[in-house]
Amino acid sequence: MNLRRLEGKVALVTGAGGGIGKGIAVRFAAEGAQVGVLDINPALCQAVVDEIQAAGGAGLALPCDISKEDQVQAAVDKLAAAFGTITVLVNNAAVMPSGRLHETSPEDFDRCVAVNLRGTYLVSRAVIPGMLQARKGSIIHMSSVTGILGLPGIAAYSMTKGGLAALARAMSTDYARLGIRVNSVSPGTIDSPMLHHFVAAQSNPELIRKAFDDMHPIGRVGTIEEVANVFVFLASDESSFVTGANYEVDGGLGVKGEQPQDAPADHAKAKESVLEI
Ligand SMILES: NC(=O)c1ccc[n+]([C@@H]2O[C@H](COP(=O)([O-])OP(=O)(O)OC[C@H]3O[C@@H](n4cnc5c(N)ncnc54)[C@H](O)[C@@H]3O)[C@@H](O)[C@H]2O)c1
Repeated sequence: MNLRRLEGKVALVTGAGGGIGKGIAVRFAAEGAQVGVLDINPALCQAVVDEIQAAGGAGLALPCDISKEDQVQAAVDKLAAAFGTITVLVNNAAVMPSGRLHETSPEDFDRCVAVNLRGTYLVSRAVIPGMLQARKGSIIHMSSVTGILGLPGIAAYSMTKGGLAALARAMSTDYARLGIRVNSVSPGTIDSPMLHHFVAAQSNPELIRKAFDDMHPIGRVGTIEEVANVFVFLASDESSFVTGANYEVDGGLGVKGEQPQDAPADHAKAKESVLEI
């Protein structure tokens, strides 16, 4: 028998309208989960649900700003009413203002905290009572390698991402004996629309793209599928003894923690550029 790995699970994925969140939602549905596709952009939500349903899966569009308490509660209630108790939560939605700390406006700083941290808190807070009742749940916060290492030019974002890894550890201790596991995932640079837009806006896109590849010891950026693989594992019962962990899905960047020493000389300038991002 070839049982799908998330059969019988009801999963909520935030920020699932595009990029990595969409990849996770579509993959979860393919693995048999019924998936709540939550995003601030209603059209994107619906497009992802259409894609899931066209492939024979079950999805529900949940347009919602996760920084708004009433919207979050309504979305969680709607998903639970449609599919039953939510037993998997992926806190993926995030915003990334760029700039060193003194260049970050108070408005950008507050929005970054409101979405990345407060949003994760609000969605988790709304979902956890159902998980406690079922004595079953897997919560996965999307952190980032920059939350662990620190990378230049994204201070506020990095702070929130480090906070999410810490939050997963703290929450894991509160719920370990109550059936809920809480972990975080810290990707390196991923081949995503966000990366494509950033690279396309540079004066030398090819050099910058090569520098991103070189930055990772494996020699390339990661794929959305490679991140989704880890989320499937953490959402599934295969990871039943895993809680409080941070999975670095970063081609070795977190271990090495520095630029490759043997990069060809003509990439030196591009490496500097990436460090200045
Ligand atoms: N792309 C990368 O290289 C990379 C690397 C490490 C970590 N990450 C993390 O992965 C996650 C997804 O990244 P991505 O590259 O797919 O980004 P993305 O910007 O393509 O996707 C983020 C999604 O979140 C949604 N969103 C934003 N604010 C929201 C809000 N208030 N309420 C609900 N939805 C909201 C957006 O509409 C968007 O669809 C983020 O948490 C990011 O920090 C990405």
